[in-house]
Amino acid sequence: MNSELLEFAKKIVLEAGGILRDALCREVACEYKNGDHRELLTEYDLIIEKYLIANIAEKYPGHKYISEERENNENLEGFVWIIDPIDGTTNFVSWQRCFAISVALYKDSKPVFGLVYDVMQDDLYWGVAGQGAGLNGRRLKKLGEVELKECILDASLNSIEIFYYKHNVKVFDLARDIRGHRSWGVASLAICKIALGEIQVYISAKLKAWDFAAAGIILQEVGGYYNSIYDDYLDLTGNPVVFMACSSVDIYDDIMAKYFILPTIK
Ligand code: IPD
Ligand code: CA
Ligand code: CA
Repeated sequence: MNSELLEFAKKIVLEAGGILRDALCREVACEYKNGDHRELLTEYDLIIEKYLIANIAEKYPGHKYISEERENNENLEGFVWIIDPIDGTTNFVSWQRCFAISVALYKDSKPVFGLVYDVMQDDLYWGVAGQGAGLNGRRLKKLGEVELKECILDASLNSIEIFYYKHNVKVFDLARDIRGHRSWGVASLAICKIALGEIQVYISAKLKAWDFAAAGIILQEVGGYYNSIYDDYLDLTGNPVVFMACSSVDIYDDIMAKYFILPTIK
């Protein structure tokens, strides 16, 4: 791995975080995406996306991007940056904390590194494929085995509704069998919390590549596992995926076997 690339990415992500912290001292323009009051878009989603892409394009003109607020193509050949300029826009607007900048670099569909920056905590999570993961200056430990009854799960109420009514997932049985559940409203940070060992499971009925690409690399580096539940491949181009991340493949398999009813192949 080219460490110059990683250092460059860390630098622009930290700078972008500074722009967001400054933004919170002002009035931030905000609108609904596609008229949906649950989908906020602020001027800063666009400013941060533009800032990151302009900097990358200047230094690495041949690289490509898949980023939430722009038109994306589906070509994953070569170096592709997968970007969520603000993950947790609702938290950015309503709480002014608990939101992240998520940036991953892939090469020919394979992970190179992922960065998730918790802006208000000033915590930079990083993961380099095959070389480990860390939080700021410290390396993260490999995750230990836990039992289902010790697990804390993160999911949104919107996802729970879809899992229950559309996919017939036994979500309420699952809720009874685990230690508890939370809802951070920021997918990348929830997955990083699994990597930290604070929670063990994250499920979403409609996650997109920019939500999980960077955090997934961090999680994998500490022995966690994530996948798309009903497809045999994880879409990296921005189509919604039914997604679960766990602290181990054993927990993932256990939850799949006990609570998810997979369609039978005829
Ligand atoms: C959202 C957050 C949220 C998740 C949604 C995402 P955004 O990202 O990660 O936690 O439940 O599916 O779209 O819109 O704030 O970038
Ligand atoms: Ca997001
Ligand atoms: Ca976003």
